Amino acid sequence: MNDINWSSLPFGYYKTDWNARCYFKNGKWGELTFTQSEEITMHMAATCLHYGQEAFEGLKAFRGVDGKIRLFRPDENAKRLYRTAKGIMMQPVEEDLFIKACVEVVKRNERFVPPASSGASLYLRPLLIGTGAEVGVKPADEYLFVVFAGPVGPYFKEGFRPVKFQIVKDFDRAAPLGTGTFKVGGNYAASLYSGQRAHDEGYSNCIYLDAIEKKYIDEAGAANFFGIKNNTYCTPKSTSILPSITNMSLRQLALDLGMKVEERHISVEELSSFEEVAACGTAAVISPISQIEDRETKKIYSFGQEAGPICTKLYETLKGIQEGRIEDKHSWNLIVE
Ligand code: PLP
Ligand code: COI
Repeated sequence: MNDINWSSLPFGYYKTDWNARCYFKNGKWGELTFTQSEEITMHMAATCLHYGQEAFEGLKAFRGVDGKIRLFRPDENAKRLYRTAKGIMMQPVEEDLFIKACVEVVKRNERFVPPASSGASLYLRPLLIGTGAEVGVKPADEYLFVVFAGPVGPYFKEGFRPVKFQIVKDFDRAAPLGTGTFKVGGNYAASLYSGQRAHDEGYSNCIYLDAIEKKYIDEAGAANFFGIKNNTYCTPKSTSILPSITNMSLRQLALDLGMKVEERHISVEELSSFEEVAACGTAAVISPISQIEDRETKKIYSFGQEAGPICTKLYETLKGIQEGRIEDKHSWNLIVE
């Protein structure tokens, strides 16, 4: 039996019963196995340790109001990990292996899937690392694919409450033709210093701008950015942001609600014309933004202390689909049986 206080869970690591492992060796993937160990033993010259051959994913499983467990769009995470693996010369994981590992990890940790509408969910963290030993800068010939999971609460302690962001110009998360569109550890390492500084200065995270002109919004910490005005959902088009599955889903929901959708450059100046702005991602879901301060000019863009009506509608609709309360018209959920 569990003795978990679901409503007070943070977004953090939580030990569960089982995780999945699969090794790529001698030119082929081995068997998918499950272990209770939280540890990985590897060669000290593994390429993930030296040359950043590391990629991960993040997706959630929800217990619905009907008691069924739903995984949200795991096929999209599988595709993104495949693209990421190709992007940094790692052995890609085929979609069926990815999904099988995720489904099995959810099933084996079923007692950790939070109850419906508790505000918590089971977060799955697939991980792909180069384990082959190399000292020259080149791709490994051995890889390990892992999927672990744990129950999580809201990413920002505010939950679905507006948060404050800070625009930074003295840091970039990713280069325009770099690895920003891939979910690789290096991008997160590049964001740690500025992210911590933003926290220390009283913000949830920073907003990164395009690295060349420092004029357009790129990404909101570890989440995508969107703004709403004139019945239009606007989100940055950029070669250095992670294509968010949440953002992709919200664009579809906005269209379903009869809104227009624009993927284009969004300048910092344009911020003052938005009715609502928010960050979105698997972990953050939708985090409405109350205030954005330009760290350099000190200019403040304010959006009110309450979540706006469109963000609220989008949030309720997305959560409703994930928890089986609203019809899943686009077949996004995979029911875990
Ligand atoms: N941007 C970054 C840098 C992220 O780490 C994430 C999280 O995965 C996102 C955006 C949101 O992507 P998704 O909605 O697929 O979780
Ligand atoms: C997300 O899932 O939205 C994230 O950004 C995950 C983060 C913890 C890396």
